[in-house]
Amino acid sequence: MPSETVLQHNRRYIPGGISSVNRNIDPAITFVRGEGAYLWDNEGKRYIDYHAGFAPYFLGHNFAPINQAAAAALISGDSLFGAGPSIAEGRLAELICENVPVAEKVTFLNTGSEATSLAIRIGRAVTGRQHIIVMQGGYNGNHDELAVNVFNTLAEIGPRVSPGEYPIKPLGAGTTVMHNRFTHAVNYNDLESVRYICRRFPIAALITEPLLQNIGVVRPQPGYLEGLRDLADEFGFLLAFDEVKTGFRHALGGYSQVCGVKPDLVVYGKAVANGFPLAAVAGKAEYMDSIIDPDPARRPFVAGTYNGHPVAVAAAIETVRYLTANKDTLYPRMEAMGAATEAGIMDIFARRGITACVARQGSAFSFYLMEKPPSDLHDIVERHDFGRDLALRRALIQRGVFFVPIATKQCSLSAAHSDADIDFTLEQFESAVATVW
Ligand SMILES: Cc1ncc(COP(=O)(O)O)c(C=O)c1O
Repeated sequence: MPSETVLQHNRRYIPGGISSVNRNIDPAITFVRGEGAYLWDNEGKRYIDYHAGFAPYFLGHNFAPINQAAAAALISGDSLFGAGPSIAEGRLAELICENVPVAEKVTFLNTGSEATSLAIRIGRAVTGRQHIIVMQGGYNGNHDELAVNVFNTLAEIGPRVSPGEYPIKPLGAGTTVMHNRFTHAVNYNDLESVRYICRRFPIAALITEPLLQNIGVVRPQPGYLEGLRDLADEFGFLLAFDEVKTGFRHALGGYSQVCGVKPDLVVYGKAVANGFPLAAVAGKAEYMDSIIDPDPARRPFVAGTYNGHPVAVAAAIETVRYLTANKDTLYPRMEAMGAATEAGIMDIFARRGITACVARQGSAFSFYLMEKPPSDLHDIVERHDFGRDLALRRALIQRGVFFVPIATKQCSLSAAHSDADIDFTLEQFESAVATVW
């Protein structure tokens, strides 16, 4: 059945035909199978996948050991008891706290959005303050307070503001002004703007992806994350790293481990369960223990029917166990594959005299059609060639290489990608570039 027919059918029952606006792509391909580094659409065409379902599949689609662990949980008699402690949940927490340096204690939820929401709540409960800081160009989930200011146009945000803050632009309708009153958006890599906000408002928490991975890959400048740590200590707010995309992918301990900056709280999702719905908030025990503060006025509320679901927990245990057992070979290999992909793409652009660059951290990369990698959203909206970016992605898709057709979106390599996959991808990249320029 052609993808367009599937979409039309779904549209009769689901608004827009798709349950997440972020999955709405053109061409509207219907995928029916994923295995390792490959996807197949409903007409039998195979693609090398660089989208990885928005990044969870660090070990590849349907990785057998993880599926087997999940299947074993399904037939073991374990269930969602909805009462009392769970042995598996405790085992997963122990594995994470033993292997992830910033995790002294951890609690489990289902989605990254729930987890970032809890991180903010803990920040407020601990500090007794209400205001929070987010990054212009950062994405921290779908809930009212954080679903703001991701990919604004230059017309929406106006000229660069520094030091200062950007007007809050909700991602959609239906939120209240109240929610936005306490949220302040500043440019990534701009410490002076954080200081500016801290001098004017009592800040409970600053939440940021340690490197932005929802507008491509935007890396921290030297000293930036250390500077955020210092400002948190100076002004008494909690520093929360949203490692939903970077956690377990860039190192077992996520980007916090790579950069050596210790946040107060850290949020995980995606790669922690290699595609199964599990998320976590972890961090310093003194802050995590606010969840059981004897004073109800200082105790953030944490509850969820599916929190610590046995199937997702089993998948996460196997994922973390696998990553721990293989970390010494796996992460260097991902870095080598990422470097080869970056070098290959740069070589193609350079040989054709195209102004372009690649921004990358390990297995996550993005190309930008501008002179040098951006340091914030403003750089991108001012300089990037969005039209050619999208055209190039569509040309790649025609050639069996799935770069999601959303301009600047980050690509994710998985451990299932082979050197031959990368060679094929680069050949197709060269051919796709030839059709776009
Ligand atoms: C950095 C980051 N934080 C939070 C989220 C929200 O996670 P979820 O979609 O699981 O709610 C995402 C999702 O893409 C993300 O990339």
